[in-house]
Amino acid sequence: MTTRRIFVCGNWKLHKTVAESVELARAVREAAETVGDAPVDVGIAPVFVSLHPVAQVLAGGSVALAAQNGYWEPEGAFTGEISFSLIRDVGCTHVILGHSERRHVFGETEEEIARKVRAALDADLKVIFCIGEMLDERERGEAQTVVHRQVTSGLEGLTAAQMDRVVLAYEPVWAIGTGKTATTDQAQEMHAFIRSILKESFGSDLANQVVIQYGGSVKPSNAAELLSQPDVDGALVGGAALKTDSFAAIIEAAVNVARN
Ligand code: 13P
Repeated sequence: MTTRRIFVCGNWKLHKTVAESVELARAVREAAETVGDAPVDVGIAPVFVSLHPVAQVLAGGSVALAAQNGYWEPEGAFTGEISFSLIRDVGCTHVILGHSERRHVFGETEEEIARKVRAALDADLKVIFCIGEMLDERERGEAQTVVHRQVTSGLEGLTAAQMDRVVLAYEPVWAIGTGKTATTDQAQEMHAFIRSILKESFGSDLANQVVIQYGGSVKPSNAAELLSQPDVDGALVGGAALKTDSFAAIIEAAVNVARN
């Protein structure tokens, strides 16, 4: 018997003006009100410059606010960076770290990501920690090896109390923004594998509590099937989170799965 809640989070990436972000945040807040007492959490991750006005829109409601990145130093001569304490200060509860775009477009190393994870937890944030293999790695049969390395390098040595504030997001890179979704079997297989790594490192009880989201072309038409898999506990949604209708439909699918 699991007590895991479903967590649906929109990653807006580099999209939307401040005014558009505020408008979409209002609509998401409204859509999240339909969740009622179902065990479903909803979050959004706008661009940095929209975090402050969006935090005001979300204040007093149930929608979690996440940043998309952060830097491990609390302050200092680090032009262009944003610290986790400032992310907390602006009203975020979560931060996305290790996203494949940070890893592969901006060249963040596993060492840097691990350092960010610890600094974000120290700043009292919850971390949405992303992992996932690239297409060539999957084709070479190395998907599990890569994911194993990413999970252990990012989370090794964390305490149970810290792990309590970590959500994982499995995002196969070949499924991000491509319209290709992992099949439900591929997603379930990798999610179960990730949970087995967590069992090795942190024990069964804790591993069974950790929420593991799936990300990569999640949309209204595939959300229910993915979320129905026993080890798929949520979705990190890119493109389909940018429109009220599609994101609201994914929230609705999550509520239906959670109630069944
Ligand atoms: P898409 O849903 O657009 O494929 O993006 C997934 C993603 O990267 C979420 O973090």
